[in-house]
Amino acid sequence: RGKKAFIAGVADDNGYGWAIAKSLAAAGAEILVGTWVPALNIFETSLRRGKFDESRVLPDGSLMEITKVYPLDAVYDTPEDVPEDVKTNKRYAGSSKWTVKEVAESVKEDFGSIDILVHSLANGPEVSKPLLETSRYGYLAAISASSYSYVSLLQHFAPIMNRGGASISLTYIASERIIPGYGGGMSSAKAALESDTQVLAFEAGRKHGIRVNTISAGPLRSRAAKAIDFIDMMIDYSSENAPLQKELSAEEVGNAAAFLASPLASAITGAVLYVDNGLNAMGVGV
Ligand code: NAI
Repeated sequence: RGKKAFIAGVADDNGYGWAIAKSLAAAGAEILVGTWVPALNIFETSLRRGKFDESRVLPDGSLMEITKVYPLDAVYDTPEDVPEDVKTNKRYAGSSKWTVKEVAESVKEDFGSIDILVHSLANGPEVSKPLLETSRYGYLAAISASSYSYVSLLQHFAPIMNRGGASISLTYIASERIIPGYGGGMSSAKAALESDTQVLAFEAGRKHGIRVNTISAGPLRSRAAKAIDFIDMMIDYSSENAPLQKELSAEEVGNAAAFLASPLASAITGAVLYVDNGLNAMGVGV
């Protein structure tokens, strides 16, 4: 039986979510994605018009198929949580059933169950501000979109995940080491995400027999990362200082995710796996 994967946080072909989808598809999984509502139109149009066809090519030459694209806003759990101005916003009004609970219900209706859940999304409106200058609103918004969104996704999807299934999120080393420039409470949000990975591994392991891990990825020039002006600096820093002196490709993170989601990783849960050319292990720059 082929496995089904739901990947939240795919809106173009540049980010980690897309690369994870490809690696899972190459390993034979059926791909469902959750796309942020404001980005849905352009993503679906680009997909339909073949704009991503070159990036859809799998190692065997076939094209990755995305069985279904679900609109999703992981900041809202149920329709009751959505404020009026968002509900009536032109970009949201055109789609329906995009709160976390409703998406899980739709996936259940359409496919019954899934095996793999991927959280590849983050948002911090004040990411370019130092933590010392971050507002309460900015801090809580970062935690809501980048950390609680994962608790919520797992809460709603775990009941439709087959035993032996796996869940994966993406984190960044700014959670545990000082990375000046990763502000707005995003470092705090990643620290929460990593701590939650352990607690959720215990709870979801006991209750649902699924594994919960996170990948601490090195820097990638994704759409989200372009909002952080130092991304190019971080990529250069890594190629100068990491044990492996090469640019990290999204595919390498995708392949690690496919491993974590596979039976090869059947005893791995609650882990932070570094996929960063080894940069995390360095104590000084060289
Ligand atoms: P990306 O831009 O491909 O992915 C972020 C996605 O989150 C976008 O598709 C965006 O539409 C979506 N999103 C934002 N708010 C949302 C919401 N409320 N509901 C649903 N979707 C929402 O960028 P990237 O960099 O691949 O990010 C994926 C994950 O990887 C994030 O968790 C990020 O923090 C993490 N990461 C990225 C690194 C990098 O250097 N790019 C390094 C380490 C971790």
